[in-house]
This record gives sequence, structure tokens and C-alpha cells, in this order.
Amino acid sequence: MDFGFHEFKTVRDMIYAKTGIFVSDQKVYLLKKRIQDRINALRFSSASEYIRFLKFSDHGGKEFNNLVIATTVNETYFFREFPQLQIFAEYCLPEVVERAKKSSVRILSAGCSTGEEPYTLSIICQEMLTPQCNFFVEAIDIDDRALSTALRGIYDERSVRDVPHTYLEKYFEATPEGYAVKDFVRRYVNFSKVNLFDQTQLTSLGHDFDFVFCRNVLIYFSDDSRRKVIEGFYTMMKPGGYIFLGHSESLSRITTAFKLKRMGGGLVYQKPLTEEG
Ligand SMILES: C[S@@+](CC[C@H](N)C(=O)[O-])C[C@H]1O[C@@H](n2cnc3c(N)ncnc32)[C@H](O)[C@@H]1O
Repeated sequence: MDFGFHEFKTVRDMIYAKTGIFVSDQKVYLLKKRIQDRINALRFSSASEYIRFLKFSDHGGKEFNNLVIATTVNETYFFREFPQLQIFAEYCLPEVVERAKKSSVRILSAGCSTGEEPYTLSIICQEMLTPQCNFFVEAIDIDDRALSTALRGIYDERSVRDVPHTYLEKYFEATPEGYAVKDFVRRYVNFSKVNLFDQTQLTSLGHDFDFVFCRNVLIYFSDDSRRKVIEGFYTMMKPGGYIFLGHSESLSRITTAFKLKRMGGGLVYQKPLTEEG
């Protein structure tokens, strides 16, 4: 295949411009393999022909979407990063509800992949909130294949390996295909296809989120694209709301808009309650 560094850079720049995902030089072989798969699937004769198609004939962006899916990592599981979820459940959630005397809580799961994270958040809210307090989880991802799995809501052993036994019995039904999330967990989660890098799409979800979970997503972004996405989240959150990133991710190089706060033995980022912080 005529896939040298020039072709690699062209495709990388296209992916970066539309999604914020930055494919590093070290991943040239990975991208090459995935592009080769797409070329074979579509029966193009060369990488340049495929690139021309992407640039000029891919109306509606369907093929670009396939390429993006091929470059994203969907790894996820229920109750991932348990200690962080404990801080959310035991400190942040009660604090937000109590402070604002709230009767409903809105949560964004950004980069929800196959649904384990938003369903986990639904389970936690069922456990922690009184029946007087409603909640809703808005779950978004760019990858429609992952979203189909999320909507199906049936998982294998690997996905539920960290689910406490009592929760497995209470919130899942064992079926021949796997563990099916029960209806009363699903009911509070809405899945939609949204590109985090598209500010119009992202902010159309609303400006009243109490919590944003964007874990293990921005690791694939450059600092500039991270900043853009985080600024979007900031405008979508209520004052006093919390944002949760993956354990290897930090906002320190990105923004000072959120306050770093120690809570329950861990560190969390909070949108200041007032303009002065
Ligand atoms: C590793 S998974 C993280 C899943 C979950 N948040 C967790 O921590 O377990 C990363 C997800 O981010 C999604 N993603 C990457 N770039 C995105 C973008 N620009 N817009 C929306 N979702 C994106 C991918 O499709 C993938 O499903």
C-alpha cells in the first residue's frame, strides 16, 4: 500500500480537525493497519484513492465515522475507578443535593463507550438518593457501534467483574447472552451520538449539569483540543458542580477555571460557586 508518512499525516490531520483525537507518530503502524482494513472493505486500490474519497466524496461523513471508530479505544467496565466513584457517591452527590436543596440531579457521561459508566452512575444514584430526588444521566459518544452495545445493555463477565455481588443481583438479570441491566437502571439513562469536539452539538445538551464524567477520553486528545472540550463542559455545568476525569488525567496544564478540592481522601475538580471563586 502507498501509505507513507505523508498519507499518515493527512489522515491524522483530518481526524484531529474533526474530533480532537491526536494520533501520535508512534501509532503510524496501527493507523496504517486500520486504513488498510477500510481500503480492503471498500475495495479501493490505494491509500491516496481512499484519502481522496474521504476528502471529496464521503457525503454525510459515514466513512470518516468508520475510520474514527477504528482509531478509538472503547475499553471500559462497571464501577471503573471505584475509589473515585465512592467520593462521588458519599461526598459530592450528597453535598450538591443538600446545598441546592435539589429535587433533581443531572449527570453527563461524556465518552460513555458501551454504557458501563452511565449505568454505574444510575445504580449509584438509585442507592444514594431518596425517592424525592430525581436524577438523569445523559450519555454521549462519537462511536455508534459502541452506542448500540450500550442500548442493548447486556454484558459479559469481564464487564461486570468489579460489580459488588449484592448489586449484581439487584440491578442485573442473568440471561443466556449475559448480564442484562434491569429496566429501572436503563430508564434514567439517555444515549446519543455526540462529537465532544463539536461545540454546538455538545452544548445543545444543556447548561444545567451538576456532574460531568469524562474519564479516559481526553488522553487521546492534544492539549489544545482538551482545553476546548473542557471549556465547553464548564459552560454546561452549574456553579458548584463537579467534573471527574480518569486517574491519569489532570486539568493543571489546561485550565484554572475549576477549583481543586480535597474530599473523602481524594482530589476533585469543582466549578466555583461564585464568579470570584
Ligand atoms: C476508553 S473509552 C472510556 C469509557 C468510559 N468513560 C470509562 O472511563 O470507562 C473512550 C471513549 O471515548 C470516545 N470518544 C473519543 N473521542 C470522542 C469524541 N471526539 N467525541 C465523543 N466521544 C469520543 C470513544 O469512542 C470511546 O468510546
